[in-house]
This record gives sequence, C-alpha cells and structure tokens, in this order.
Amino acid sequence: MSVELVPDAGVVVPDWAPGAHVDLVVGDGSTRQYSLCGDPGVPVWRIAVLREPAGRGGSAWVHDELRPGDRVRLRGPRNHFALEPAAGYVFVAGGIGITPLLPLLAEASRRGATGQLHYFGRARPNMAFIDELTPYGDRVRVYAETDGPQPALRTLLDELPSDTLVYACGPIGMLDALRAAMTEAGCLDRLRTELFAAPAAVQSSPEDGSFTIRLERSDVELTVPADRSGLDVLLEAGVDVVHDCQEGICGSCETRVLGGEIDHRDHILTPQERAAGDCMMVCVSRAAGERLVLDL
Ligand code: FES
Repeated sequence: MSVELVPDAGVVVPDWAPGAHVDLVVGDGSTRQYSLCGDPGVPVWRIAVLREPAGRGGSAWVHDELRPGDRVRLRGPRNHFALEPAAGYVFVAGGIGITPLLPLLAEASRRGATGQLHYFGRARPNMAFIDELTPYGDRVRVYAETDGPQPALRTLLDELPSDTLVYACGPIGMLDALRAAMTEAGCLDRLRTELFAAPAAVQSSPEDGSFTIRLERSDVELTVPADRSGLDVLLEAGVDVVHDCQEGICGSCETRVLGGEIDHRDHILTPQERAAGDCMMVCVSRAAGERLVLDL
C-alpha cells in the first residue's frame, strides 16, 4: 500500500534527499521506519507499506486502520543511505526493498551517472512500482521467481567498474549474500545497504563485558554492564539521547565518539565510517576496550 502524507496547513516540512526515511507513529504509539519513495521536489511525502503478517502490528495498522484524511505524526527525515558521488551505480532491490531505491535511481539519472537496477521478487503482480520503472527501459531488470531461475547475486558484480557503488535494500538473506559476494570480490567497501529489520543474534553476545562511558561535556562517567546497552544506561542516567529502533538500523541514536575503540554492531555505518571511529549507535554498539569517551 502506498501512503501519501501531506503536511498540515502552515507546517513547513524539511527537505529530504533520496535514500531518506521517516519514523511513522503507528496505532499503539510506537514508531516504524519507512523509506520516502516519492519525488523530493514534491511537498507530498510518499511511503509504501508491505503488510507483514508476522510483524509487530505496525504494517497491519497501516493497512487496516489508516484511512484517507487521517492525521499521523512523523519524525525525520533521516538519511543513512544517501547517494554518494560516483560515476555509476548498481542498485539491488529485494521485494519492498525497492522503496528507497526508486528515488535513488531517479537521482542517479538526474546526475547523469550510469545506473542499473536489479529488482528481485516472487511474482510480478506483487512487485511494487514495476509500472513506474518502465521509463528506465533496460536500465531496470526484473527477476521474478515465477519467471524462472533468478541470477546469482555475484553475477551482478561481474566487471564492476572501480568507480561504481552498489546500493542494496531487501531481506537480510539477500543482503548477507551480496555482502559475501562483494567480500569475495574484494569490493565490500563499495556496498551501501539499508535494512528493514535487524538480525536478532548480532545485538548481544555471551562474551560481552562491561565498559565505562565518559560523557565529556557533562563530566560524568557511567558503567555499562555486560547485559545492558549503552543507550539503556544513558537514558537511566537522564541523558536525553534520541532513539527509536534500538536495533541499530534507524540511526537516530548516533553519537559522536571522542575517544576509545568501538565494537560496531549497527547495520548503518559503512566500513569507512566504522574505520573512522568517531561515531557509534549507542543502542547496540559497545566498547572494544574498557572505555569510550562520548560527546555528550
Ligand atoms: S535507536 Fe535506532 S540505531 Fe539506535
């Protein structure tokens, strides 16, 4: 289901760039992240929501309860999937993962860059926005399971030019396979991904130890026990850290790190951003050593 969101009269909404997402407040007051998939130049924000029967209820609320004319609350937009400068792009979409890639593909075209979209799904009638992709001609390839065998992801990387970036959004299995293929090809640094849900296992490990966080501006030191997140400890201490997903996928709790080595466990930062070591998602990431200094 596509949902078009129009600001209340007099409300000036911020600009957004392709790759951005918003937090939609759903029926029970919790939030869900949805990519903006319309045209950034139009003051109507469009999202697309796949009904997830096994989900937490947010998509069911949108499908079953939300009706034209209803008022909703949004936060954002935020963007951890923006189009970085490159001569060319390969976009890989799995199912509803097409949503952030629609405006990214349009932006790549606007910039005059080469761009190829590979869109994987089960059956064409159920694949969102196929009609909108028609104008791109052979720059879009659609692979539906019902059409026959789908190509292996590694074949999409054949002869990938060194000045080309790969943007992918889709199910975890697809992104893991792509990550493995790009690692094998020695080009993982050119992969940018957007996740809808975090794999459960990566958020804590039995080997986790406690560590100290120093809040430089507040002149406070806190201990993060082995079984708790930095975000939990900060909130309990009254530190107002913006947060949402608590799974390392939305980017809202990004915090500047002034010192210490980080054990990154989010699904947002690129290998280069991780290597820079100057920011972390405090909801899932921890200290690789005993202490971190945060700009809080
Ligand atoms: S709260 Fe979403 S990344 Fe931390």
